[in-house]
Amino acid sequence: MIKKTDEANSRAIIFEALMANQGGIVSGTALAEKLSITRQALSKNIAALKAEGLPVASVSQKGYMMQDIKDTDVLSSTLITYILRDNPLFNRCICLKETDSTQSVIKKMARDGEEAGVIATAEVQKMGRGRRGRNWQSVSGKNLMFSMLLRPPLLPGEVQLLNLAAGLSLKKTLRTLCALPAELKWPNDILCSGRKLCGILSESAGEAERIYYAVTGIGVNINMAAEEIPDELRGIATSVLIESGKAWPRWKILVDFLGRFASAAALLCSGGGPEALLELYRKECDTIGKKINVICDNESFSGTASGITGQGALVVKTNDGEKIFAAADVVHLR
Ligand code: BTN
Repeated sequence: MIKKTDEANSRAIIFEALMANQGGIVSGTALAEKLSITRQALSKNIAALKAEGLPVASVSQKGYMMQDIKDTDVLSSTLITYILRDNPLFNRCICLKETDSTQSVIKKMARDGEEAGVIATAEVQKMGRGRRGRNWQSVSGKNLMFSMLLRPPLLPGEVQLLNLAAGLSLKKTLRTLCALPAELKWPNDILCSGRKLCGILSESAGEAERIYYAVTGIGVNINMAAEEIPDELRGIATSVLIESGKAWPRWKILVDFLGRFASAAALLCSGGGPEALLELYRKECDTIGKKINVICDNESFSGTASGITGQGALVVKTNDGEKIFAAADVVHLR
């Protein structure tokens, strides 16, 4: 019997052979021989690549061809895992069609002993989770929803730093790759035209002295059109499509982000400690220096955001003196 890992390996080898000759025909006989598999097994693997959404064409009597993928909006485990071979932190991506929440998928893997570096994406989440017990709504097949399994050497009180690293990295992706004037609102919301483009949630398990694992989950509105925004989010949410006027291959935004996040996480966990990351974050956080409202435990405070502490908390100058918020909702006033 062929094991699942062997199947995934064969699929990856076939994918690599097709990618090495993108736009050209690769002989089916040569592929089957290279892998020492039957033509039926090869057809099965090709069907699996097509089912992942990859543009593989079968050319009668000749073989197979990978068509241009650079503008194809596809979330494919094989494609993303292939691109991640150059990423120092992430090594595997599992792209699901539908799940309750990618957070639950990755948390289960973490509890079962999976190593750090795996990501799960979903086209549809039936019970997407947001910060502070809220739910996360998205449009099926249009946006990015993913969770990452991390095992950083952090204390439980430092998990907020992962949110900051993720917010910082995503702002850079949206500014550099998509040329959007994205703003980073503490702790980790990304805004464009004052509306929310993404949400980030980190959950962890551990003991007082160390965390066993952290799961950072991110939802980014990418190809959702204005008329598709759920009623409750109208006037509050936006998307990369709405802001840039063009649709984006979601895999491109994901892998760009994962590269930047790997660098930010390395900074966070290296000898320099959190300060190296915080220094960058303080420069990029658009909340600093702004007049803001902070909503925390049903109380509202106004003031000017003046800094970020060593654990990632927000420092606000109010009429009653300086206040520090570890977790809260912030509204930028100007
Ligand atoms: C927020 O409230 O702003 C955070 C939202 C985080 C949503 C993402 S979508 C992928 C991952 N899976 C979930 O259930 N939640 C996170």
